[in-house]
Amino acid sequence: LKKLFRAHAKQARPVKQAAVLGAGIMGGGISYTSALRGVPVRMKDIQPTQLELGSKEALKQLARQVKAGRLTQDKANAVMASITPQLDFAGFNEVDVVIEAIVENISIKRRVLAEVEEVTNKDAVIASNTSSLRIDDMAQALRRPQNFVGMHFFNPVPVMSLVEVIKGSATSEEVVSTAVGYAVAMGKTPIVVKDCPGFLVNRILTAYVRAFMELVAEGVDYLLIDHVMEEFGWPMGPAYLEDVVGMDTGSHVSDVISAGYPERMPPLARDALRLMVEHERYGQKNGIGFYRYELDPAGKPR
Ligand code: NAI
Repeated sequence: LKKLFRAHAKQARPVKQAAVLGAGIMGGGISYTSALRGVPVRMKDIQPTQLELGSKEALKQLARQVKAGRLTQDKANAVMASITPQLDFAGFNEVDVVIEAIVENISIKRRVLAEVEEVTNKDAVIASNTSSLRIDDMAQALRRPQNFVGMHFFNPVPVMSLVEVIKGSATSEEVVSTAVGYAVAMGKTPIVVKDCPGFLVNRILTAYVRAFMELVAEGVDYLLIDHVMEEFGWPMGPAYLEDVVGMDTGSHVSDVISAGYPERMPPLARDALRLMVEHERYGQKNGIGFYRYELDPAGKPR
């Protein structure tokens, strides 16, 4: 890996300032991690309440670092000050990288990415944190697809070390290297993967989640499935995992992968994730999914 990083480091562009679109589960975590590692971030959302949640979560994480003695209060204050919550595109013309982390919907992403291209400089790297959509499909909306790349972080961002860097057919090597370099600067382990629905990790995870949904449709209790998978040694079972991911996102990902591999993963007759979305049980993000959660003021489960 070290060799790989060195090879990329040669042509990676420096990332001194970044922007993140979306202050939700992923955008909040990416903003915090970037700021903690010394790259200031403009965190943009369209909902003031989401910006508040993103900022509160960063504050909570920083307080934890201070309490554990890993950060002084002064340093924590400086990190917090380097996250700029905003509702507009102010300062986007100065950033080196923008990471898009909004809803997993191709037409919304295309529209928003095209907007971002208009307000950034011509060398800015535009990255998508999509979990499943092909980079080439989104790149169709862009005038500079060579600057567009996938940077797929995992949840929770401050904890999970893997980042899938996805190279589209038009993505330049320099842009791939910049994404790899930025991920390393954020303390992550990037792997460069091919552009296909679900990339690497979510192709595997989706098969697992579909097996879970089939069992539930056959009448097996999801509490039992979670318990069994935990006893087996996994950190959490599939029902709890989907609560953490967010049912809307999980359902979109499952649909994209199913459409991408229709023979191997045809649509399910009884889709538990879709049913949960229909009943507005989105998981931890709104306090109810397969399980119920008591949320703290930062909107996170206590
Ligand atoms: P989320 O629902 O928690 O947050 C999405 C945020 O985007 C919301 O705050 C929303 O207000 C904001 N937003 C919507 N339109 C916007 C716009 N035009 N400009 C700025 N902000 C806008 O969603 P989450 O879970 O953070 O997912 C975001 C992306 O990250 C999706 O593409 C998802 O597939 C991907 N992802 C999600 C993971 C997860 O475990 N939840 C893991 C890895 C990737």
